[in-house]
Amino acid sequence: MNITLFTTIFACFLCNALGSIEMLASVIKPGIFRHIICRNNVYPRSNVSRFPVPDDVVFWSVPFAEYCPPTYTAPHIGGQSWADTPLSGDAVQPTWNHNDGIVNRVSFHGGYKLEDGVPQNPIGRTGLKGRGSLGRWGPNHAADPIVTRWKRDQNGAIIQHQDSGKNILQMVAIQRSDNKLWAIPGGMVDPGENVSVTLKREFTEEALNFTDKGNMVEQFFKEGVHVYSGYVDDFRNTDNAWMETTALNFHDEDGTQVGQLQLEAGDDATNVRWTDIDSNLKLHANHADIVKEVVLKRDAHW
Ligand code: BGC
Repeated sequence: MNITLFTTIFACFLCNALGSIEMLASVIKPGIFRHIICRNNVYPRSNVSRFPVPDDVVFWSVPFAEYCPPTYTAPHIGGQSWADTPLSGDAVQPTWNHNDGIVNRVSFHGGYKLEDGVPQNPIGRTGLKGRGSLGRWGPNHAADPIVTRWKRDQNGAIIQHQDSGKNILQMVAIQRSDNKLWAIPGGMVDPGENVSVTLKREFTEEALNFTDKGNMVEQFFKEGVHVYSGYVDDFRNTDNAWMETTALNFHDEDGTQVGQLQLEAGDDATNVRWTDIDSNLKLHANHADIVKEVVLKRDAHW
């Protein structure tokens, strides 16, 4: 077998075997992707300014001798059951990079380094040390259900976009109460909780206001397609604590299931609606990049 053929076959094998990693790379890849939302601003719900981090010194591999970020951990997370306790020298240290009891401290981006005894953000500098308002040192795991249907006219026919000729996807988006931005109706994975449970629970709480819609929602959430697992460019990230998410797409192909439900905002959501998906979509953090993965998978209009 000649070397070119061998390389091609091997590359194809890798692409199939590492399908989800390949997908992940198109959203966020350490060493290539630079976070934006967690830099150069005042930390949310505080008066602490992040140390300025220009684009060219985001990566830890680039020396930045002047880098001297303040440390901030929001007082309100003290004593919360979902938060770590402060790390003191003689206390038992968390088991970094592993499942620590029921707390998942594993990053989707591989082993993270420790700097002064605490995890180091795998993407780079954020201008702030400490945990900010995040509960866990290192990765804080969330789950995001991207619930979609095709846009239809009054007669139920699928609408194609006049320019691309492709079908238009719609998704359930909620308006977050903390930053007022529209977002995927996701939430934090509780310790020991299976992500599939988080996905259904968060959707029911935020988009259906806890209303039990019976077996249909239960069945609908069994058919998810994995879209993304990895870092989120979240406004709360710090040098030592950051958000990661697992996103799955739940698609109502004929619009007869969740596509018919009466939506009602609840819990952390102040509003909920079906939203058309296209390249103008502006969402919390980098949710729009994650949603774009669904568009590519379903060959929809963007
Ligand atoms: C949200 C998720 C989001 C994550 C990262 C969580 O608060 O509920 O939807 O992906 O933060 O921004």
